Amino acid sequence: MERPKDFVPVSLAPDPVIEYYKQFVDVSLLRENLKLTPTERVRKMQEMGRVYAELRRAGENLSRQIQAQPAGTLLPMGEQVRRAVYPGSFDPPTLGHLDIIQRAARLFDELIVAVAVNAQKQSLFSLQERVQMLQECCRHLPNVRIASLEGLLARFADQVGACAIVRGLRAVSDFEYEFQMATMNRQLAPEVDTCFLMTHQQYAFLSSSIVKEVARLGGSVDALVPPNVAHKLRERFAPKTAGTHHPSSE
Ligand code: PNS
Repeated sequence: MERPKDFVPVSLAPDPVIEYYKQFVDVSLLRENLKLTPTERVRKMQEMGRVYAELRRAGENLSRQIQAQPAGTLLPMGEQVRRAVYPGSFDPPTLGHLDIIQRAARLFDELIVAVAVNAQKQSLFSLQERVQMLQECCRHLPNVRIASLEGLLARFADQVGACAIVRGLRAVSDFEYEFQMATMNRQLAPEVDTCFLMTHQQYAFLSSSIVKEVARLGGSVDALVPPNVAHKLRERFAPKTAGTHHPSSE
């Protein structure tokens, strides 16, 4: 049989990608194609072939990219950055706080340490001093930021797009207060979960209040707080010389 003049040989080798995409081809279009002249039909096939080839290339590129990306750099689906807030008074920050900060910084992409402004609570250090002490302690942690927290914690967490609030749990005695706070925060911001990290046993009985008491009475706090905080405490409780006045430590 003689070949038609405009016959163009096309590869009939089954291509799995083409076979896959064929299922999306509208059958009525195929029927329409039968009305085309052989030349028109071949042109159409060539055109479709180009589209399939392009789709195949795009698919191959995508799978190459996915294979090339190390697992650790893959971001969680649907969430660009997992940000958490670690709130507290930090008056002053202790090694127990720093331990929680370091561990939470490993668990989340970003950690915001939120230093609470509490008008009803007399603090030893001003808000600026507490923020500065924490900034110094966290310099080695690139994904940790220090912020001041005024008003509701739940609103703050919502505003910064946090998915979690982090709190440290020391002894059983912490539980009731923490449970109450976590429940209230969930009511105010249902999207934000509270995560508790068990304090390292070394710091189980460490608190800012006990540190302040030891420092006030002249004891060493070197094993309880970071060096810059110990320095600040010594300064604050140094015997007062004439002309030195610290209203917040009264
Ligand atoms: O270190 P602390 O003093 O135990 O921290 C308490 C803190 C700052 C986390 C808590 O007092 C707080 O969340 N303050 C912000 C105001 C707020 O949201 N209050 C309602 C809590 S349910």
